[in-house]
Amino acid sequence: MRSVEWNAEKGCLQLIDQRVLPAEFRTVCLHTYDEVARAIKDMVVRGAPAIGAAAAFGMALAALRFSGSSREALLRFLEEEAAPTLKAARPTAVNLAWAVDRVLRAARRVQTSADAVRETVLQEAQRIADEDVETNKRMAEYGAALIEDGDVIIHHCNTGALATVDWGTALGVIRMAHEQGKRIHVLVDETRPRLQGARLTAWELEQYGIPYDIITDNAAGYFLSTGQATKVFVGADRVAANGDVANKIGTYMLALAAYDNGVPFYPVVPTSTIDLSLPDGRAIPIEERDPAEVLDIQYRGRPAMPAGASARNPAFDVTPHRLVTAIVTEYGVLYPPFGPALQRVVAQAEKEREARVR
Ligand code: MRU
Repeated sequence: MRSVEWNAEKGCLQLIDQRVLPAEFRTVCLHTYDEVARAIKDMVVRGAPAIGAAAAFGMALAALRFSGSSREALLRFLEEEAAPTLKAARPTAVNLAWAVDRVLRAARRVQTSADAVRETVLQEAQRIADEDVETNKRMAEYGAALIEDGDVIIHHCNTGALATVDWGTALGVIRMAHEQGKRIHVLVDETRPRLQGARLTAWELEQYGIPYDIITDNAAGYFLSTGQATKVFVGADRVAANGDVANKIGTYMLALAAYDNGVPFYPVVPTSTIDLSLPDGRAIPIEERDPAEVLDIQYRGRPAMPAGASARNPAFDVTPHRLVTAIVTEYGVLYPPFGPALQRVVAQAEKEREARVR
């Protein structure tokens, strides 16, 4: 199943609960936009494209549950209640606002009735989900061309089918190269503190039959400096107009070590993750999560840290574009200077979308 899926029979949004994997495969069915916002905040669903699609379905749930019959009142409710609540769930991944705004634009185009708005909003959410899968497959084809037989690839966080609607971004590229018959090995950064690499990426690699080893995040520099890693592939939560890349905390250190050792560093980024309104990465809002995520770990069944210890927990960092070798998008692989290339692909995506609407 998809990690984000509309259940038409039950009229709910079905999500794979990513908090409990790999110990348990559990799904949840959400019936209100508040529940969706909470699921995004608590990381039941996570990964930039997946939270975008989930929020789009959250808008659909808001429209379906709204009891009034006035089109204007429904639009106001979507704009003033549902959209701000969903957008506020997590601040860094721009896909969230991108998807909510896209649904709102579609809703505003409907001139007839509240029921027609409801239908359009659900259709647009479904379109966002379907397009995500198509986009990922396109990126996978372009990105896999960068992978050679024998490559050992460092991957950070989880960017696979779980982090998207299906297939994945950086992990989708790796999966495509594997399916093309290339012999590859993945070094999976465990990704502290929530262990998206060790829990989720390793779980996915098991299903695909791709050989891997989990490494501690702080071992990446060792593998890069000893020639034991040949490429780095990561995802992104937001890319600024100059090519600065926000991604899971630890990506910046990984990019520095890759750069220092002449190892190519490739973010795999759908155009829905590009934010041309921000000139550079300094303007990207960085989510700081509950310190409990850092503190509540155990070592051999006992608390790892002294009682009363305090912690900081930024969830993302920004990699400056000078450390980025190339950015893989659904419109091809972009090389520096990134500014004009990013503008071109975003314009291309908008044109394609407008043609579909007409
Ligand atoms: O905090 P998370 O798990 O939502 O962070 C996810 C990442 O940083 C991913 O690398 C990013 O969203 C791209 S996933 C296709």
